[in-house]
Amino acid sequence: MPEFQRTSLGVLGAMAVLAILVFTFAAGPADRARSPAPAPATDDRERTETGAAVPDSVMVAAAHPLAAEAGRAVLAAGGTAADAAVAVQTMLNLVEPQSSGIGGGAFAVIWDGADGRLTTLDGREKAPLAADETYWLGEDGEPVAWWDAVVGGRSVGVPGTLKLLETLHARHGRMDWANLLQPAIDAAEQGFTISPRLAASIAAAQEKKLDLFEPTRSYFFDPNGSPRAAGTLLRNPAFATTLRLIAAGGSAPFYEGEIAADIVAAVRTDINAGILTPEDLAAYTVVERAPICVPYRAYEVCGMGPPTSGALTIGQILGMLEGFDMPGLGPSPEAWHLYAEAAKLAYADRALYMADADFVPMPTRGLLDPDYLASRAALIDPSAAMPTPAKAGTPPWDEAAVQAPDTQPERPGTSHFVIVDADGLMISMTTTIETGFGSRVMTRGFLLNNELTDFSRAPAAEDGTPIANRVEGGKRPRSSMSPTIVFRDGAPVLLIGSPGGSPIIHYVANALVAVLDWGMEPQAALDMGHVVNRNGVTELEEGTEAEALADALATLGHEITVRPHESGLHAIQIKDGALIGAADPRREGVAVGG
Ligand code: GLY
Repeated sequence: MPEFQRTSLGVLGAMAVLAILVFTFAAGPADRARSPAPAPATDDRERTETGAAVPDSVMVAAAHPLAAEAGRAVLAAGGTAADAAVAVQTMLNLVEPQSSGIGGGAFAVIWDGADGRLTTLDGREKAPLAADETYWLGEDGEPVAWWDAVVGGRSVGVPGTLKLLETLHARHGRMDWANLLQPAIDAAEQGFTISPRLAASIAAAQEKKLDLFEPTRSYFFDPNGSPRAAGTLLRNPAFATTLRLIAAGGSAPFYEGEIAADIVAAVRTDINAGILTPEDLAAYTVVERAPICVPYRAYEVCGMGPPTSGALTIGQILGMLEGFDMPGLGPSPEAWHLYAEAAKLAYADRALYMADADFVPMPTRGLLDPDYLASRAALIDPSAAMPTPAKAGTPPWDEAAVQAPDTQPERPGTSHFVIVDADGLMISMTTTIETGFGSRVMTRGFLLNNELTDFSRAPAAEDGTPIANRVEGGKRPRSSMSPTIVFRDGAPVLLIGSPGGSPIIHYVANALVAVLDWGMEPQAALDMGHVVNRNGVTELEEGTEAEALADALATLGHEITVRPHESGLHAIQIKDGALIGAADPRREGVAVGG
């Protein structure tokens, strides 16, 4: 990775913080129109003496307007991006509870413009120390079915999000910790309006056992058992009390105090009882890890390394595309064919090699080795699709043992936000409780994750070869989360990421190709229909222009599926000293600046 230098973003830091909403974009699933993104509301912007609009010096893009506004207000009051992240995440926990929260885990990529330093923080959940590779085997010795594993305390990993927030705040925060939790405390006490997306998620999850356990049932359902409807005012006094404890005591009550005790009790569900102990919670640590950076044309694309497969797989896809004229081809069937072929090869490596590198030897360097990627790219025929599944390669490495592939998918119960502050601190953070509503187990007003189902439930292939992503005590399950920051000439130019399970990698990589190769505006890139290949069929997003690729790709030999893809991308581009925000039209997010 390059040496990152102090950048011209210090100019942004010199600007006054302006508390002006300049860009609001909200569209629920029902509004999934392909209309152009709304233009920034420049008429509302502060203007200079000459009448020119003052560019935003701060910006937040997040999955719910209340969360984005909580972050914007912190920035407007002089807080840092880390301060804003605390406000955004705690508000998301309340208003988008199905996706993320202190009961889950997260990864953050952080660019500190003041000292020119890029870091990543790993707040991924961990398996209980007593867990072993038989964790997901039933009495018959076979792996339990995925949904059977999800529901109940057994799927709950030790949460990391709160400790990650505390670490971010300790390193980069300026404002009082307790004040940053106040917006979520107030909203939890006074109530918030259930959004159309949350209401639809509750209704859909009813048949997935969301109403099995108390207190989850009485929080999300009426006394008569009906899912709470959009527009309903929902109060969460238990969450307010939890946040007050955390406001006063930091993460200690959560990891070692009365909240920890309640988590341990809550996971002892009637079915699928968990084995988390107070010692597991007390032992949890956030880990700072080296970022994974790959050169791509004039850019450096940086993200989170293992235990997520995100940056490595995106890096492989881009590394293989480097030798093809993607800019010249534009968003054509020929370009998407090359993209899908590169993705097949990258997902083959992902399945075989990628897991928690603290536990399994991983060829991290070899997977991104330019000569290795060139040899993999040579397998791509521009005129014909390769058969699937493509085989994993043999990257240059000498650390790894022989392993068997894991094809465990991750489900889309996740959120992503991006923040830029006036001093040039930038955060790209993806955060999750795994599937929508996690394990369905709730305590003290927040849901607990089901992240342990991101492990391979089978510990080994049929021939006994161990799977890298098998369960081990204290290990972090493999993720697809891909918080990303792109640099050019050492300066950040784009923050981006998405929820969405294992297609997250594609949602981010699609948009990267659109912005970096095709020069698309961030909003247009997020609006664009998705093209996904996870080493099998080529998936084209239903209801979008991607459907029109079907015939041409089929002629090249692709097996095609047309299906919905529910990404939730958020992005901020830094261009000519201005911040340009974008929010995915598939969800309810907004980008707000000031
Ligand atoms: N649980 C979703 C992910 O980690 O990718």
